[in-house]
Amino acid sequence: MNQLTVFLPCAAGVEGFLADEVHGLTGLTGDNLLTVRAGVRVRTDWAGVLLLNLHCRLAQRVLIELAQGPYRDPEDLYALSMGVKWEGWFTPRQSFRIELTAQHSPLQSLNFATLRIKDGVADRFRQVGGERPSIDTHTPDVRLHGHLTTDTATLYIDTSGEPLFKRGWRQDKGDAPLKETLAAAMLAASGWWTPATRSVLQVPLYDPCCGSGTIVIEAAQILLGLPAGGQRRFGFEQLRPFDRVQWSTIKNEATRSATPQSGSESITVFGSDVAHRMVDFAERNAERAGVARALQLRGGDALQRMPPSEQPGVILMNPPYGERIAAAGVAGRGREAFQSGALSRARAGDSESVAEVDAGDDFFRQLSTHWKSHFAGWTAWMLTPDLKLPGKLRLKESRRVPMWNGPIECRMFRFDLTARRPPVNQEAA
Ligand SMILES: C[S@@+](CC[C@H](N)C(=O)[O-])C[C@H]1O[C@@H](n2cnc3c(N)ncnc32)[C@H](O)[C@@H]1O
Repeated sequence: MNQLTVFLPCAAGVEGFLADEVHGLTGLTGDNLLTVRAGVRVRTDWAGVLLLNLHCRLAQRVLIELAQGPYRDPEDLYALSMGVKWEGWFTPRQSFRIELTAQHSPLQSLNFATLRIKDGVADRFRQVGGERPSIDTHTPDVRLHGHLTTDTATLYIDTSGEPLFKRGWRQDKGDAPLKETLAAAMLAASGWWTPATRSVLQVPLYDPCCGSGTIVIEAAQILLGLPAGGQRRFGFEQLRPFDRVQWSTIKNEATRSATPQSGSESITVFGSDVAHRMVDFAERNAERAGVARALQLRGGDALQRMPPSEQPGVILMNPPYGERIAAAGVAGRGREAFQSGALSRARAGDSESVAEVDAGDDFFRQLSTHWKSHFAGWTAWMLTPDLKLPGKLRLKESRRVPMWNGPIECRMFRFDLTARRPPVNQEAA
C-alpha cells in the first residue's frame, strides 16, 4: 500500500513526547512527522500503521485519514463520505460505528451530521455492490471517526479498535487507576524515559502510592523492551488490507528484538502502596504484563517506607487527592472517613469536607518531612490537579509541566530532594 496519512491523537501537552516516540520507532522526520494540536500527523505505509499500533505508548489511537474537505452543511459531509472508497477497507457484512468530534463547528446538530456521514458510507456500499453494512454502536467490527473544525471535515478509519491505553494486561484495577498512556507521558516528562532514543535513565524508579501498578508496570515494560500492545487485539485485524502473515512477522520481530535496556540488570522499578489489596492487584497485573521479574512491589505507608535502594533515583507518583481517592495510613483517618469529592465540596465551603482535605494536607506535610530525612538525592515528580501542592509540601518545585488526566487539568511538579538542614546552633550563631 502506498503512503498513508495517519493521525495519532494524544492528550493535550503530550504532542512533543509523542512526536519523539514516533521518530524513535519509525525514524520519520520533517514533513513525514508533524506535531499538531492534540496529536501527531505522519506519512507512513500499512506496515508502519501496524508497527505504531503495536509499540506506541503515548498515542490514544492510530487513525488513517481517508478524506478531507470543506463543508458548510451536513449535505457536504454526506458527499465527502460518499466519495470515500470504504469498500477497499471493509465489507458490507461488517458492522460499523462513527464517532464525530468537533471544534468550533457551526453545525447545529452533531447527531444529524453523524447520520449523514453514516448515510454516505451506506449509500456508497449500495452503489458499488448493492449491499449496505449495519450500524453497531456497542461492539462494531469497524470504527470510523470524523472531525469537524470551523470549515473543514476530516474522515478517518480507526486501525486501533479499543483505545491504545488498553494494553491488554489490566484485569485488576483500583479506585483511581491512571490511563497507561498518561503513565507513559509521566515517565517521558520526568526524563526517566527518553522516547526519541528509546532509552531510560540508569537510576531506580519508585512509586510509593502505586495503586494497581500502572506507572511501574509501564516503566518495567520499557525497561525490558516489551511492546506496549503485545497482549491485545487491534481494529486493523478486521480491515481488508490485513495480512495475517505480515502481522505475525512484525509481532515476531518485536518479540525477537525485545532486548532489555543496556544496564537494566542494575536498574530496578519499585512500587508500594498502603493498601495491600492494591499491591495484590499490582502483582497480578505485573504478572500478566510479563514484568514481574523487573519489579519489586511491597505494602506500606509512603510516610514510613524507607528508600527501596541505596542509589537515589526518581520518585514518580500520582498521590491520593480528595477528588477521587484520599490519603490513608498514618496521615489518614481511615479510608471510610474520606468520601470521594471532598476537595470540591470543601471548595464549596462544606466544613466536614474541609476537615477531610486538611487531613490530606497533613499527609503532604508529613511526606515532605519524611523525604527530607531519608530521600536526599532523589528527584520526586508528582502529578496532581492541586496547584497548591508545593505549598502543602513546603517544597519549592524546580519544574512544572502541564498535563491532562482525562478532563482534569493537572501539573507534574518536580522536587529535587535535599537533606533537612540541621537546626542552627544557637551559641555559634
Ligand atoms: C490516585 S491512586 C494511585 C493510582 C495508581 N497510579 C494506579 O494507576 O493505580 C493513590 C494511591 O495511593 C494509595 N495511598 C493512600 N494513602 C497512602 C499512604 N499513606 N501511603 C501509600 N499509599 C497510599 C491509595 O491506596 C491509592 O492506591
